[in-house]
Amino acid sequence: MLRIKNLSKTFYMGTPEENQIFDNFSLEIEENTCVAFLGPNGCGKSTLFNLISGSLKSDSGTIEVGDKNISKMPEQERALYIGKVNQNPSMGVAPSLNILENMSMAYKKGQKFKLKRLIDKNNNEEIINRLKTIGLGLENKLNTEVKFLSGGQRQCLSLLMATVRTPKILLLDEHTAALDPKTSSVIMNKTSDLIKEEKITTLMITHNLRHALEFADRIIMLNHGEIVLDIKPGEITEEELNKIYYEKIEDTKAMEVPKLIKIA
Ligand SMILES: Nc1ncnc2c1ncn2[C@@H]1O[C@H](COP(=O)(O)OP(=O)(O)OP(=O)(O)O)[C@@H](O)[C@H]1O
Ligand SMILES: [Mg+2]
Repeated sequence: MLRIKNLSKTFYMGTPEENQIFDNFSLEIEENTCVAFLGPNGCGKSTLFNLISGSLKSDSGTIEVGDKNISKMPEQERALYIGKVNQNPSMGVAPSLNILENMSMAYKKGQKFKLKRLIDKNNNEEIINRLKTIGLGLENKLNTEVKFLSGGQRQCLSLLMATVRTPKILLLDEHTAALDPKTSSVIMNKTSDLIKEEKITTLMITHNLRHALEFADRIIMLNHGEIVLDIKPGEITEEELNKIYYEKIEDTKAMEVPKLIKIA
């Protein structure tokens, strides 16, 4: 269970650029569910994920994973509970380290370690088996530096690295957005298999409504830091979801116009 209570976040507080993103935002997510987050650009989706992962600090509010309050934990410690995959295929991996080193690093998440002691041979068999499951032949390229892999191969690796220690919560921030449609579909199917097998509670930001309807158990739409829709995929058609989504995007644009006039 992920429980967010009264979370507030304002950027540049007390300055002319003050930008309130969340004001007493609350949300509960049941264990072992996959929730898709939709919403217009700038509505606060990534900020919410960054507040959960600890890469951003909230102004107030609490975040609990199971019975553990992680609100005050530093990001490195939260990494024991939370895995994250970002949109940019280079972000979740160390490009100048090879595949084996990257996977080995994922096992040491949340621990201090010396680069020399990175590889623990006890993990090698498991690493090879995990790489085999994605069917891209990465298990035969253990010594290849990750910078030589394609975006899709890196995202697969990033996904495996984020889940190797079976996190309580997996955050996927548009993790297929930078990929071509075929690779995006491969990664999405792999993600779905993995989170079901390992029973990982997953929060997935996507602009792909089909992915949301097909893979999520619950769909949440955010707008201006608030939940404006919270439904199960069976309760809505793609056309209806698309209509609501476009209404919110238009609504956001309409809100932005007076601001721009004011600045000019
Ligand atoms: N680190 C930061 N410092 C200052 N402002 C930020 C920071 N991160 C996000 N913001 C601001 O918060 C707002 C929400 O941004 P956020 O990245 O959460 O949007 P989003 O919903 O993920 O959008 P997108 O769909 O484009 O990824 C934006 O106005 C953005 O400029
Ligand atoms: Mg974002």
